[in-house]
Amino acid sequence: MRVGVLTGGGDCPGLNAVIRAAVRKGVQDYGYSFTGFRDGWRGPLAGDIVPLDIPAVRGILPRGGTILGSSRTNPLKAENGIRRIKENLTKYEVDALIAIGGEDTLGVAARLSDEYGVPCVGVPKTIDNDLSATDYTFGFDTAVNIATEAIDRLHTTAESHMRVLVVEVMGRHAGWIALHSGLAGGANVILIPEQRFDVQQVCGWVESRFKVRYAPIVVVAEGATPKGGEMVLKDGSLDSFGHVRLSGVGEWLAKEIERRTGKEARTTVLGHVQRGGTPSAFDRWLATRFGLHAIEAVRDEAYGVMVSLRGTDVVRVPLADATAKLKTVDPKLYAEAGVFFG
Ligand code: F6P
Repeated sequence: MRVGVLTGGGDCPGLNAVIRAAVRKGVQDYGYSFTGFRDGWRGPLAGDIVPLDIPAVRGILPRGGTILGSSRTNPLKAENGIRRIKENLTKYEVDALIAIGGEDTLGVAARLSDEYGVPCVGVPKTIDNDLSATDYTFGFDTAVNIATEAIDRLHTTAESHMRVLVVEVMGRHAGWIALHSGLAGGANVILIPEQRFDVQQVCGWVESRFKVRYAPIVVVAEGATPKGGEMVLKDGSLDSFGHVRLSGVGEWLAKEIERRTGKEARTTVLGHVQRGGTPSAFDRWLATRFGLHAIEAVRDEAYGVMVSLRGTDVVRVPLADATAKLKTVDPKLYAEAGVFFG
């Protein structure tokens, strides 16, 4: 048995831990061989492979990024994409494929598996934690820790200058990073994509914070949208899955706050810092378990499934379910945080 492995979409701390665990268990327990595909779906599409064995995965557990490289290549849009993937899997004698990715990468795996008979097992990843078929995705905990540390640091500089500091975090459709890091970091305003925000109300919270002689920290998810306005975009460009590139709401909001309150407001955009560097202990643990369970699914020939965390158990769910529904922040959860606003 030869197993192909690829990592697609935005990188995420913990990807290497999945690869390591799958290879270690596959080689040691089942005598499998492995082939790595470079840069997500571009690898099987172009036949770009990399050797993958136990020496190749030594020492990678704490390393961020992915030793296989990643891309947002969409093979369903490439000319003869499916045929080329099938030919390359045959050429390199790959019997099963483990696809590690988010909504887009797993969406392709689901179609390849269900419609075209390619034996795929999915492993969910995204720092956004917005896949409903799993309780948590690895990468999220690391991103929240990084954002929380940034908020802690911004509190002291905001107070020294009595400025408003706006922190823009990732979160395209879901405000999980904003909500968790905002609560953990003691933010005075948290804005998420799920609920449009009222700029005047934000300014009210900012002013009430100044009244008690503290400087406000506003955490805003990149996908958060003002009431009566549009999502703020850097430029109009799209990736190959058709997603518009975000970031910009933090800058926009700081300007609005300054204009309406007369208080100095600055923005910190955390951007890819949230996705880089070493994974947290939780993410290493989760990613390692996902890797172990993915190889067990291959052994059981349970294709068309994704491994998923339910409570403390790792279970299998249909790949099609993995991408069917986005996991967004429940309004009740968001309302809980409201006691700290202002
Ligand atoms: O999906 C994960 C994510 O980190 C989003 O939060 C963000 O909008 C996007 O990736 C950014 O992707 P890229 O690095 O390709 O611009």
